[in-house]
Amino acid sequence: MNFLGGGTIKFIQCRLLRVKKLDDARVCGTDAWNMRELMMSLIYTWISTIITIFQSKVLTVVSLMKATLKYLAGSEGPSGYGSNTTAQQVAQDCFCSNIIPNLQLTAIITGATSGIGAETARVMAKNGVRVVIPARDLRKAEELKERIQRESPEAEIIALEMDLSSFASIQRFCSDFLSLGLPLHILINNAGKYSHKLEFSEDKIELTFATNYLGHFLLTEMLMEKMVETAAESGREGRIVNVTSVIHSWVKRKNFCFSKLLNPKSYNGTYAYAHSKLANILHAKELSSQLKARKANVSINAVHPGIIKTGIIRDYRGFTTGMLFYTSFLLCLFRKIIQAKIAKQAVCFYFGKKMPDCLYFVGSKLLKSTPQGAATTCYVALSSQIAGISGDYFADCNLSHCSALANEEAEARKLWKQTRAFIQRRLLQPKC
Ligand SMILES: NC(=O)c1ccc[n+]([C@@H]2O[C@H](COP(=O)([O-])OP(=O)(O)OC[C@H]3O[C@@H](n4cnc5c(N)ncnc54)[C@H](OP(=O)(O)O)[C@@H]3O)[C@@H](O)[C@H]2O)c1
Repeated sequence: MNFLGGGTIKFIQCRLLRVKKLDDARVCGTDAWNMRELMMSLIYTWISTIITIFQSKVLTVVSLMKATLKYLAGSEGPSGYGSNTTAQQVAQDCFCSNIIPNLQLTAIITGATSGIGAETARVMAKNGVRVVIPARDLRKAEELKERIQRESPEAEIIALEMDLSSFASIQRFCSDFLSLGLPLHILINNAGKYSHKLEFSEDKIELTFATNYLGHFLLTEMLMEKMVETAAESGREGRIVNVTSVIHSWVKRKNFCFSKLLNPKSYNGTYAYAHSKLANILHAKELSSQLKARKANVSINAVHPGIIKTGIIRDYRGFTTGMLFYTSFLLCLFRKIIQAKIAKQAVCFYFGKKMPDCLYFVGSKLLKSTPQGAATTCYVALSSQIAGISGDYFADCNLSHCSALANEEAEARKLWKQTRAFIQRRLLQPKC
């Protein structure tokens, strides 16, 4: 309320008391004065509250407008990169300024058989990183390997089988990988699934949550010691990247319940996906605290790659349009001003199903290309600019803000404990 100034406040008070000067009110008697003062302070509080809310809304909208314009213009942030930067540009810069010469990095990239993961694998391999591709369909992984080696004959790529939605398959992959005796500098938890209808994994867990979150959680746990050991031996900070999505901010605390995520009573594909992506960020937050506490030279961060027309988006066109318009300028304004509920429903249930092609076309102009979509992952996995930064959230190759819920350490700790206990119970259960 500082901006109102003392004079303005006095003026409002005088108008409310219908006197010329505040002192005139006091001659009316103490009771009347107290009554009036009480009324006046109430009204004054209401007015100041309304002004504060209005002011914060204006500031939020202005900052969103600035961010959206920045995104559309592709202008650079503090890192020197922006939404237009490609993975190859980032990787090239990182390898030109490489602090440890002659060190061959090894990276595991999940979901590298298509989309953002395939581009991340291509760029890393082209720049001399040994890339391990865990794939549920080995034929696809071999095709990618051939494609990359046609472009970069020296590229070293290892394809191994792994279905992220199956605990047993993840265990098999980890034992296959560890038996190769290779170091592990980078782990990119990129694979992602969007499921339109309710499906269950072979472990009888809702499929999106099982794949996007639980699978990556177990994979990271099983490879952690190898990463810590590699970092200690090589002197290079180990990097874990959890690929998440801006859609995590749609999740409300009251709906984020571990047992319901494992086996939901009612199902909405968009929200199931959003929940799994929130869990990816919380996982990064908690694990980073644990790694810091044990002084391990390994960092873990979460990245939002942007909106890119890849397999996950093509899986469900309604979902695409929802995502597109969530990020679009108009919807940002609409959502923040009118408040989430109406806009979200409009996006998910109206635009999502009935959006005409011309609007879809316009919306698609807001998308990033796949090379741009892989840039933030490469930046967080490779750049020396972010050495020592852990438990953070990145977008467009710069530090960014995730939702308040995703930032909560207590929530992250609770989810981590629940997940670990659940997975341990499942792994100990005798197989039927
Ligand atoms: N595209 C976007 O606009 C966008 C926006 C925000 C966040 N993201 C995130 O970016 C990441 C990459 O997505 P994308 O856009 O590149 O999608 P994509 O082209 O559909 O790629 C998804 C990858 O995940 C793999 N995958 C799915 N289920 C799997 C399982 N059970 N086991 C092993 N691998 C599995 C797929 O393998 P198959 O080839 O075998 O299917 C594929 O390689 C995801 O985490 C996604 O949530 C994407």
